[in-house]
Amino acid sequence: MITKTAFDKLNEQQKNLVIEARMATKNAYAPYSKFYVGSAALLKSGAIVTGSNQENVVFPLSLCAERVCLLYAGHAHPQDAVVALVVSCSSEKKANPIAFPCGSCRQVIAESETRGGVLVQIIVDGGDEAIYIADSAKDLLPFGFEADFLK
Ligand code: THU
Repeated sequence: MITKTAFDKLNEQQKNLVIEARMATKNAYAPYSKFYVGSAALLKSGAIVTGSNQENVVFPLSLCAERVCLLYAGHAHPQDAVVALVVSCSSEKKANPIAFPCGSCRQVIAESETRGGVLVQIIVDGGDEAIYIADSAKDLLPFGFEADFLK
């Protein structure tokens, strides 16, 4: 299920994670798009890992914030499941931009669910009055590619 809510309605842990993702936008390297994305993952242990988009002059080599965050979490905390992921963004063009994860990132979030064995709550931060919460990667990526297909 995907629900829309406001920052004030989030619990303290969710608020903290949104603030971490907002801060992570400051570390984005996005000289080409000038669209700054931050992501924060909450792990089962309570640890928080953040990431931001990292662009390349060869545009397709750029990496989204969500993948920087989740792939680093997998490296730094290999045994710790991701339980929630926030995506925030800022842009010079708009006051309250929003970025739902792209298709590639949705597949990577789905892999975090497979790897950790728990659903990942995805919080998309479109500003204080427009916070979207998806209960699982499956809400964003129905009919994704699954490990069973390889058998
Ligand atoms: N981007 C992300 O980091 N995450 C998203 O969810 C959507 C897009 C980045 C990729 C690129 O650096 C910039 O935003 C514009 O597409």
